[in-house]
Amino acid sequence: MPKTFYVTTPIYYVNAAPHLGHAYTTIAADVMARHHRQRGEAVFFLTGTDEHGEPVADAAHALGIEPQALADRNAERFRALAPRLGASNDFFIRTTDPQHMAVVQEVLSRVRENGFVYKGVYEGWYCPRCADFKAESEIDEGRLCPIHHIDLVREEEENWFFALSRLQGRLEALYGERPEFVAPRTRYNESLSFIRGGLRDVPLTRRRLTWGVPVPWDSEHVFYVWFDALLNYYSALSFARPGEDLTERFWPADCHLIAKEILRFHTVYWPALLMAADIALPGKVFVHGYLLMEGEKMSKSLGNVIDPFDVIERYGADALRFYLLRDVSFGQDGSVSTAAFEARYESELANDYGNLASRVLAMVARYREGVLPRGPDGPALDPLLAEDFDGLGERVAELIDRVELTVALDEIWQRVRRLNRYVEEQAPWVLVKDPARAGDLDRVLGSLVAGLRVVTVLLQPYLPASTERLLQALDAPVVVPIEPLFPRVEASST
Ligand code: MSP
Repeated sequence: MPKTFYVTTPIYYVNAAPHLGHAYTTIAADVMARHHRQRGEAVFFLTGTDEHGEPVADAAHALGIEPQALADRNAERFRALAPRLGASNDFFIRTTDPQHMAVVQEVLSRVRENGFVYKGVYEGWYCPRCADFKAESEIDEGRLCPIHHIDLVREEEENWFFALSRLQGRLEALYGERPEFVAPRTRYNESLSFIRGGLRDVPLTRRRLTWGVPVPWDSEHVFYVWFDALLNYYSALSFARPGEDLTERFWPADCHLIAKEILRFHTVYWPALLMAADIALPGKVFVHGYLLMEGEKMSKSLGNVIDPFDVIERYGADALRFYLLRDVSFGQDGSVSTAAFEARYESELANDYGNLASRVLAMVARYREGVLPRGPDGPALDPLLAEDFDGLGERVAELIDRVELTVALDEIWQRVRRLNRYVEEQAPWVLVKDPARAGDLDRVLGSLVAGLRVVTVLLQPYLPASTERLLQALDAPVVVPIEPLFPRVEASST
């Protein structure tokens, strides 16, 4: 049986349309999924939509439509985004899928049978957009939500509670035994100190809401949307393939990718819930940073969003994938802008890589009529280059295992640049003029094809469409020039 790899994105809220921030996480997860498939592993890559809860119900009512209608409309847009990004997700889950809802009911009933659920009264400051109560320490001056900058409301509610506090010891033990459970390290520290600060029990249900998964033992309640949502990672495996249950094969997940605003849900509530339900814990939660525009987190509630569909329309999905993982160090916050995107496109995709590919193919076609002398495994790498390529594949794999997606890409890019220098150093256009140096020319062209093939295979998870075109050209029995991989695009006026 091949090794398995299961990666997830957060499931996105359907109270608004997809934006670049959502595209970012989906792209990153896709890079990991494609990389692990290249390694011959059986991969399951999950994304989807989070459709219950107050924000969705409120947004629907504001539009004068039913929550289900809003959810259907926006879930479709998220579903359509994935393939346009070149994302190869194996399933798209919606929390309104009845199979998901049944699993939520079953797992949370087990949590109750295991003694982790009780009835009590909750009072606190609540943000309707976050659908979350805020701890006193997080509340901004003027009693505003620190994320949405809107008024918090004092809420008091009779609820079923999840006895999170009872899992404090087990959570601390988890962090002690598995320091890789949360990455990067700063996020691990943040979560651990939150746990050590003392955990309070949290509401598991909401009474006044109806847009949610019904609580089987109390018909007046629905489950608090976060518990419903988190369970998507687990429930999806049971119904993604009709007639087949993939849970045994893929659970526990290897990596949950998230951004930092939902850290606590994933690194405290989620493992606690799984412990309370006797379900195995995931391997890792990797927390990336925010894409910022003009210094603020892009978010639908703030309105400062870039439309990924527009970018893809003009430049293609590969360019967007490359830009986001190259320009913003994965794991940290970073600013994005149209100007920076255009600069990277031009200097790196079009010049460093696209031109290299065009030049190499053109030279093989022109100087050798498209045919190179090949050994059994194709042309070999010049020892001059081999040194710089040595161990590259292993290094990239090791970095991607640590979710260092930007560092891995940079390692590959250094070799793209090395190949460009090799072209200049060897000047095949000079060699071709001297018949006595035909062997040298074969060696140089052969090395370029071999080196280009290595970087292209390693770039495949990042640039799936363009690398496929190039690999076909490189592997053809007779090499012919190709259209530019990254053609010049009129710069935008902004
Ligand atoms: N529905 C919850 C998640 C439930 S998971 C069980 C949610 N949805 S969301 O639509 O708000 O999506 C949040 C996620 O989208 C972030 O964690 C991140 O993955 C991605 N991003 C949204 N905006 C982003 C940026 N500006 N920058 C980086 N990532 C962004 O929270």
